[in-house]
Amino acid sequence: MKTAEEPDKQRQRSRHHHLRMGWFSSVWWSTLVMLFFSLPEVNSKKESVPRVKLGYKELIHSRSVVPFVGSSEGQRFQTVLLDEERSRLLLGAKDHIYLMDPDDINKHPKKLSWPAPRDRVDMCILAGKNPLTECANFIRVLHSYNRSHVYACGTGAFHPTCAFLEVKGHKEDSWLHLHSNTMESGRMKCPFDPHQPFASVLTDQYLYAGTASDFLGKDSTFSRSLGPPPDQQYIRTDISEDYWINEGKFISAHPIADTYNPDDDKIYFFFREASRDGSTTDKSVLSRVARICRNDVGGLRSLTNKWTTFLKARLVCSIPGPDGVDTHFDELQDIFLLPSRDERNPTVYGVFTTTSSIFKGSAVCVYNMEDIRAVFNGPYSHKEGPDHRWVEYEGRIPYPRPGTCPSRTYDPHIKTTKDFPDEVISFIRLHPLMYRSVHPMTGRPVFTRINTEYRLTQIVVDRVAAEDGQYAVMFLGTDTGSVLKVVSITQENWSTEEIILEELQVFKSPSPILNMEISSKQQQLFVGGSDGLVQVSLHRCHIYGQGCAECCLARDPYCAWDGTQCSRYIPASKRRARRQDIKHGDPSSHCWDTEDGRNVEEKVLYGVESNSSFLECVSKSQQALIRWFILKPGADHRQEIKPDERVLITERGLLIRWLQRSDAGSYFCTSQEHRFTRTLLHLSLHVLDHGQIQAHQPATRESSDNPPVTEPRQRYKDYLRMLSVPVRSLDEYCETLWHKEKKQKQKGKWKHVQELRKSRNRRHH
Ligand SMILES: *[C@@H]1O[C@H](CO)[C@@H](O)[C@H](O)[C@H]1NC(C)=O
Ligand SMILES: *[C@@H]1O[C@H](CO)[C@@H](O)[C@H](O)[C@H]1NC(C)=O
Ligand SMILES: *[C@@H]1O[C@H](CO)[C@@H](O)[C@H](O)[C@H]1NC(C)=O
Repeated sequence: MKTAEEPDKQRQRSRHHHLRMGWFSSVWWSTLVMLFFSLPEVNSKKESVPRVKLGYKELIHSRSVVPFVGSSEGQRFQTVLLDEERSRLLLGAKDHIYLMDPDDINKHPKKLSWPAPRDRVDMCILAGKNPLTECANFIRVLHSYNRSHVYACGTGAFHPTCAFLEVKGHKEDSWLHLHSNTMESGRMKCPFDPHQPFASVLTDQYLYAGTASDFLGKDSTFSRSLGPPPDQQYIRTDISEDYWINEGKFISAHPIADTYNPDDDKIYFFFREASRDGSTTDKSVLSRVARICRNDVGGLRSLTNKWTTFLKARLVCSIPGPDGVDTHFDELQDIFLLPSRDERNPTVYGVFTTTSSIFKGSAVCVYNMEDIRAVFNGPYSHKEGPDHRWVEYEGRIPYPRPGTCPSRTYDPHIKTTKDFPDEVISFIRLHPLMYRSVHPMTGRPVFTRINTEYRLTQIVVDRVAAEDGQYAVMFLGTDTGSVLKVVSITQENWSTEEIILEELQVFKSPSPILNMEISSKQQQLFVGGSDGLVQVSLHRCHIYGQGCAECCLARDPYCAWDGTQCSRYIPASKRRARRQDIKHGDPSSHCWDTEDGRNVEEKVLYGVESNSSFLECVSKSQQALIRWFILKPGADHRQEIKPDERVLITERGLLIRWLQRSDAGSYFCTSQEHRFTRTLLHLSLHVLDHGQIQAHQPATRESSDNPPVTEPRQRYKDYLRMLSVPVRSLDEYCETLWHKEKKQKQKGKWKHVQELRKSRNRRHH
């Protein structure tokens, strides 16, 4: 028997890994730094930077983000039920359920109050829980039950409660009604703790839920409840935590058909659990995919009212390293199922984080349903006893194969799970774990973020048709209130490239994103956080710029150049040819306005000898490499400007300390992205000497005989100060610089030395 790929060995591996990671990252950094300085053309660091970063204010201003007016602090807008068919959006928060119109969330929202009873709140506080963040009714379950009714559950101040809600009327005239006579215990249907991860799905009038089923959160279970009247038994996972589910944190649950036979229909669910192996008391976290048959009614003699078809497998998301040491992302955070043409085979997207305390990492892995099924059809794991390790089971497998759904079509003697032979029941009780693990489709994550200030927490994916094919666009929520929009592009040679198209700060304060729902119909994202709900557009093409080249460089599958502007791309529309190139982002073969200089900004700037001068040039894209060139009077070649102690190239422009006469000339600010270079700005800098200025200074100036040249020592101090300030305050510095100059201008001292910032944008359309 071979040793299974389970905790002990793995723990060792990850310990190695941590050590290696420290070493690795320092080597990686120095290599990166070397690359960065020695090969400015191959600016590899820029690739992982979001191309465009938009702040909360900008998003609100452009109406790309619309906050829900009912938002308020600490309400935890965690549960969203989007019903596109009936055009309604239900939102579950602390003590309230809101009913709104997904077309306009702020148009007549309806609010239903459902607080926890006073005595429950008191008991909750007595038990030592937090009155504000725990002892209230936090709504965690909202599912459409039938045309008129919604099933809802709340934590009820650590006493979960469920009830039916009725939605009456339509649009503006709709309202919500809570049927108090239907209130029942929410145990095993809803968590006690509002902060605990939780998954549920309602299908065919049955509710499937994965949650802790007691006050202390010890017993975690996946169960089925509700159902049509005569048959309202709870069916749940076995209590044996060494084998079944141990401190499970449930992420999501989905009904998926396995074959064309409806008897094979299953509920797949995803969770993470503590895995303890052998005699050690150390626990590690592992992610799981599990499944049960929808027609499972439990066993007859053994496993009565327990699942008899429960199987689970490990879900691996790791980066293969040299000499077999992988970087593991073990903590599943979210799952999204992207539907495909075959409803039995959605693509499974998972967001994972590391459990390491040494480095902070998140990854997105993509799985194929076929690979998941293959693992469930493969070998089982075996454990001699609670103190032993999992190894591959190599003994005889009973008939029918454990985990198979009962079906008359296969065997007329096995009509329900109650007909399973005892041998099958006792086998599955001790062998619910598969021996092999599920690995991602590409063998590695499609997207990773290592040592960023945030972790990824949520994912939704949209399939977008573009001129050169279909793209899966991922929207990733973070624990700091931002959303990353990422597209994964596969080239002809199968190499893939992930581009962070946008980073959007959708919440004012950096709080975790708790839930995200996507509406492809509305082209909107509904994002819930602890202090509010916001509606976010999937695209804002106009921000990419005013030209075809900028639109093309953005590589956003939602956007194309329509001849006059960068706008939403709609496939098969009868509009004129749309210009778009997601695969290569190459404007030179798609745009005509690239080299004729129509989009080049022209400026004239006057500077004073020995004083500083700031030549501003900002690219919309954070991924662009900015380079400066100078054409000196009389010279026939442009020369690239290299930074030195006198000349600083900043994110916002070129800063020249103590100007010299020889600095005069034509400056070109160029931006390079994917080997495509264009000029953003052409600036003529004139340098005036002191004589020229003093000649024009009013005689009233008292200190006019003071030398205007700054002392070298003072200059040096200024310079040090400049270097020690981060880029943002450098902007501020430059701003105050401009400001000062402006003031002086107003005083009339600068009559002739006016800084002419002629910004001629000679675009004709
Ligand atoms: C929907 O379900 C509720 C609760 O069981 C029931 O009272 C109601 O009659 C049902 N409505 C329809 C239209 O089936
Ligand atoms: C695939 O093509 C891209 C450019 O299209 C290139 O950068 C990359 O190195 C190629 N990868 C392989 C494995 O050939
Ligand atoms: C140079 O700049 C300083 C402030 O930065 C200003 O006080 C001084 O007047 C300037 N000199 C000239 C000649 O403009």
